Amino acid sequence: LSHNLNNPTSRTLNLMSKIIEKLCRIESYEEPEVKGQVYRLHFNENLHLPDDYYYKLLDIKLSIDDVKYYTEPLNKSFNKLLANFLNLHENQVFTTCGADEALRLILQLSLHGYKKVLIIEPTYGLVKILAKVMNLNVDTAVVNDKLEIDIDDITERRDVDVIYICNPNNPTGHFFNISNLEKIITNVDSLIVIDEAYIEFSGKDHIPLIHKYDNVVLIRTFSKAWGLAGLRVGYVLGSEKIIQILKKISLPHNIPYPSIIYVSKALKLKNYVEESIRSIIQVREFMIRELKSMVDYVYPSVTNFITFKISNAEIVWKKLLERGFLTRILNNNPYCKDCIRVTVPPLSIAKVFLTTLRQILEELR
Ligand SMILES: Cc1ncc(COP(=O)(O)O)c(C=O)c1O
Repeated sequence: LSHNLNNPTSRTLNLMSKIIEKLCRIESYEEPEVKGQVYRLHFNENLHLPDDYYYKLLDIKLSIDDVKYYTEPLNKSFNKLLANFLNLHENQVFTTCGADEALRLILQLSLHGYKKVLIIEPTYGLVKILAKVMNLNVDTAVVNDKLEIDIDDITERRDVDVIYICNPNNPTGHFFNISNLEKIITNVDSLIVIDEAYIEFSGKDHIPLIHKYDNVVLIRTFSKAWGLAGLRVGYVLGSEKIIQILKKISLPHNIPYPSIIYVSKALKLKNYVEESIRSIIQVREFMIRELKSMVDYVYPSVTNFITFKISNAEIVWKKLLERGFLTRILNNNPYCKDCIRVTVPPLSIAKVFLTTLRQILEELR
């Protein structure tokens, strides 16, 4: 041992191995590999947009300069374009490399505070992992049987820098009452992050909250309703002060310029997105009605996915996959045991999915 301590290389290795060991103990964010021809119903992308939308979007010839040079620092022009689109001031908007980057940036703020974040379970699994790999402490509150938050419990928590609330929530798909969120916002010192990845499907909106409160930020994405997950563009809305800080801790060239070009074009094709949302809502309601007669419990979704509880969830999930439907099994989430989450597909596929599920349940009887 004394030999090791006197040897700087060994000391470094000892320290490194401690860090590596600690990080190894943190669970990884598991994503299924997509093999062969399957319906991809596991990631909540928008499957209702017509090819025409994508043809119009991609009908832009990139110039040499678009890829030769570094992007505009912090995407200033796009922040402005997006702010105009949303009727906000450019200083209230900051574009990120997907909602995930926004989440990581916001959690990073906690490193300068008490190093503690609070999440409301069950929720988007990546948040806890991001916080843990940043060596933050994660506090958890759990929704009750009616999927409501215990406001008193949350407001009594101490030394919390950031409270993460996903609304509409993933994986339940339900919506937390905004007036309850407001009770939390007005009774804590923490920064409240509302992840609005699925907001466009819900017909709701938290934007009034950022005009009223400095301790609220909203995270949005072009990956879900806008059907552009591969471009990796998300954004944060909040007070000028918070946005300024996020810009400070962001990488200066966080998004490839082609993504900015295509997303800018998408803003002009909003009608396609609105039409697809109407279609998703119709199919979602049809699927919820059908599923209710087949499974143990269907969560009340206002999103483009549905989560249901079912006996033998793992077996059902495997059989669905064998028959060409890749869904999300939530068994790793202790708050969603025996649950499967499925993206709402176009009606024709939804019908085949339901018939397949019915057959599987018959076989398991
Ligand atoms: C709640 C929630 N937030 C954020 C994300 C990530 O979005 P993005 O693709 O913009 O990084 C997802 C993706 O599934 C999500 O479900």
